[in-house]
Amino acid sequence: MGYSSLKMGADVYQAPRGTVDILPAEQAYWRYIEQKAAQTCQLYGYERIDTPVFENMNLFSRSIGERTDIVEKEMYSFEDKGGNRITLRPEGTAPVCRAYIENGMHNQPQPVKLYYSASIFRYERPQAGRYRQHHQFGYEVIGDNDPALDAEVIDMAWRFFESLGLRRLKLLLNSIGCRKCRPDYLASLRQYYIGHRDELCPECGVRLEKNTLRLLDCKKPLCQQFAASAPRSADCLCPDCAEHFNLLRKYLQQLELPFSVNHCLVRGLDYYTRTVFEIQPQTGGAQSTIGGGGRYDDLIEGLGGKPTPALGFATGIERIILNLKKQQVAIPPIPTPEVFIAQAGDKVKNEAVKLASSLRGAGIGVLQASSSKSLKAQLRQANNFSAHYVIIIGEEEIETGTVILRNMTTAEQETIALTKLQNRLQCPP
Ligand code: HAM
Repeated sequence: MGYSSLKMGADVYQAPRGTVDILPAEQAYWRYIEQKAAQTCQLYGYERIDTPVFENMNLFSRSIGERTDIVEKEMYSFEDKGGNRITLRPEGTAPVCRAYIENGMHNQPQPVKLYYSASIFRYERPQAGRYRQHHQFGYEVIGDNDPALDAEVIDMAWRFFESLGLRRLKLLLNSIGCRKCRPDYLASLRQYYIGHRDELCPECGVRLEKNTLRLLDCKKPLCQQFAASAPRSADCLCPDCAEHFNLLRKYLQQLELPFSVNHCLVRGLDYYTRTVFEIQPQTGGAQSTIGGGGRYDDLIEGLGGKPTPALGFATGIERIILNLKKQQVAIPPIPTPEVFIAQAGDKVKNEAVKLASSLRGAGIGVLQASSSKSLKAQLRQANNFSAHYVIIIGEEEIETGTVILRNMTTAEQETIALTKLQNRLQCPP
């Protein structure tokens, strides 16, 4: 596309609000996190899955919940040319469950452990660490209700952040029961809040009618005071859920994970049952949550599959980077080509092009002086690229089958036979 087609009248195009370009200077963070994520997944036995960027809208409204902020306000939905209601993925769990059902993964040995790294779209109000397009690394374990797996999922999230070098995090845990015990709990929660109806903020007034559990999640100071004294889900669990939660806490203690039970932790998606958890920086609160997850034992059945317990976790890569920067964690740079080829005069350009290609063919990264700059300017260019070696080719060298090899760190220079160059670069003395 020509430059003129990027402009319309006096408008200069900008990335849409809430989106950013991930520029080369940022890529070391992304690569670092993706490599650590893949390593962690291998350690815990997860396989990668990639699902489409968009799905049928119903998948999300049915799974996340019609009365959640995500479905009510934040989905990027549109009708395609075939009249299908389509939504850009606002989270990763429902698509993975859809893929599990559609691809008959219940026939595989259970549990099935899957991970993804994907772009996510939510029409939110942009601010630091909150975007309209962000990226999540997430993983799901499908087909087992053992609380030891809940502990493993939480352990994996914690160890992943540790492996990145993140410190000063807190782990919040809660159990919100199952479809057997939740209705009674919700009734008592509602009863409690009806007593405070007139003092609640306007949004909580609506939540009281539409999504009672989310009352516990309000960030307004007065509503938080009510939440602190509200009935607690963990006190209203049926015997099976209570046993599950007890065992989970025991496993977490054994793993020496520093969790604290937070009775107001309910998460923003409706599919959760029993375990919910979040990992947050020690300072910052719920708005800065780095990752969260939990169990969703009814979701696969709700999407038309067989009853299948499952759980998972996801973390926002942009939020991880924010915290890595805040904590000044050193990130390994992405290696750049070590060798720069400079040519003394345009006549030898042909040889320089050939040499660059043959060295790259041998697996040696090479940058080549691109224009007919003076040799001095080419050496400056090599310096700017932080090249470790500069190969200088001139007419005399071509005649004698040699090149000049300059070590940019020591400034030492030697003449070396072309036939020995490759070996010399691969095995320096
Ligand atoms: P979530 O808490 O909605 O959970 O999102 C997971 C993480 O994505 C958050 O903790 C946060 O780090 C990041 N995140 C969310 N929204 C934004 C945003 N607008 N900008 C930047 N980062 C954001 C889920 O999505 C569940 N699917 C997690 C899960 C997996 N539960 C079970 N399995």
